[in-house]
Amino acid sequence: MTNTSQSLFDRGMKVLVEGVSSASRGPATFGGAPRYMSHGQGSRLYDVDGREYIDWMMAFGALPLGHAHPAIVETITREAARGTHFATALEVEVEVAELLVGLLPHVDKVRFANTGTEAAMAAFRLCRGHTGRRKIIKFEGHYHGWWDAVLVNTNPYPPTLLGHPNDPIRIPDSSGIPEEAWKDTIVVRWNDFEALERAMKLHGADAACVVTEGVMSNMGVIPPKPGYLMRMQELCHQYGALFYLDETVTGFRLAAGGCAELYGLTPDITTYGKAIGGGLPMAFIGGRADVMAGLEWGKVLHFGTHNAGRLALHVTKTMLETMLADDQAGFRRIKHLGLTMADELRRVAKGSNRHNMVVQGVNSMFQIFFTDQPEITDFRDFCTHVDRVKFRNFVQRLFDKGIYMNPSATLHSLSAIVHTEADIAATARAVAEVLDEMP
Ligand SMILES: Cc1ncc(COP(=O)(O)O)c(C=O)c1O
Repeated sequence: MTNTSQSLFDRGMKVLVEGVSSASRGPATFGGAPRYMSHGQGSRLYDVDGREYIDWMMAFGALPLGHAHPAIVETITREAARGTHFATALEVEVEVAELLVGLLPHVDKVRFANTGTEAAMAAFRLCRGHTGRRKIIKFEGHYHGWWDAVLVNTNPYPPTLLGHPNDPIRIPDSSGIPEEAWKDTIVVRWNDFEALERAMKLHGADAACVVTEGVMSNMGVIPPKPGYLMRMQELCHQYGALFYLDETVTGFRLAAGGCAELYGLTPDITTYGKAIGGGLPMAFIGGRADVMAGLEWGKVLHFGTHNAGRLALHVTKTMLETMLADDQAGFRRIKHLGLTMADELRRVAKGSNRHNMVVQGVNSMFQIFFTDQPEITDFRDFCTHVDRVKFRNFVQRLFDKGIYMNPSATLHSLSAIVHTEADIAATARAVAEVLDEMP
């Protein structure tokens, strides 16, 4: 631990809950004081004691261009001088919406929000309003923000609490959530064709939507089995439930068109957050025209003082233009970097005969699992076979070697266009050293 971080943590604990503003940044995740960061540049973060880290967390994926990218800095400086937020109609709002609709074939219209949670809340309300149905079908281990109705089975549990795979024990992940809030939430095992068919037979006709992450991104990185998401889409059509693809993590990350492009999907409704804002709070709900029309005239209500903040919209526009330039070179670059980093980690893991581990990734996202399994394919595998304490110890040691990842095995690492081959080599070296040193 660095001295200034420790003293800031001691001060922070007196005035901030857990010394931070989100549990994932504090002692619940770090096991003690986190490193307090002072600034970032490119692929690097610097802590308050001046130590430098190669950042593979990139603000949970909010920074596809890395830290303090000159185009973003220029945009913020230019636009802040013209006023930060008006809460009025804006030209840039139309421009960014045009960009998004042009880019995402399944999106006819968008509505801007600020965070993934907010966008999801509006999307779920819209699904219920559009279909007149109450039930939401979600999957074990999938996170769609901290809203009451879907904050169910989002955390890893001991295997004894999982229940039968055909009927997962439903567990809200917070106190203060009344049962009425999640009584219409159906939880299903993910990546399991049979479980999905069964759940649809039982609940499909009453379901407003089936909501899924395209790549399971809140239990490390778990890709969908071939054809699984397409089957989900077909079943939604069969039962008249909306197919809701949550691209908060994967949007403008895995491809310019997100998981929908990667897996050939046409969701009825989708939400984006994180990367789209290029570091500023920005999110949107998008979908087919007839579904999105539900939001018109407040039929399904969605308000927000900070929706479509002009500063964030300008940054979104800059981020998109930068990533899309030269025939989407930015997306090709982060994919190449992510795949290369994952391959390097696999090479290092193979060379270490003392630790059982696998590296899983999709394009720019990757995660290391300490496990004796050849592969982690779902939430139950994760809960039963992934050593999360070991991962946290591993990441804590990496901090001392100048590598930054989130210490929670449920999260993942990401590449940004500013990472370099030298960053990958330095990270692989540090990981090899830590594996050598670690008990
Ligand atoms: C798939 C998914 N949906 C929604 C959210 C919520 O986004 P936010 O943290 O911006 O509220 C997250 C956050 O991690 C997420 O991973």
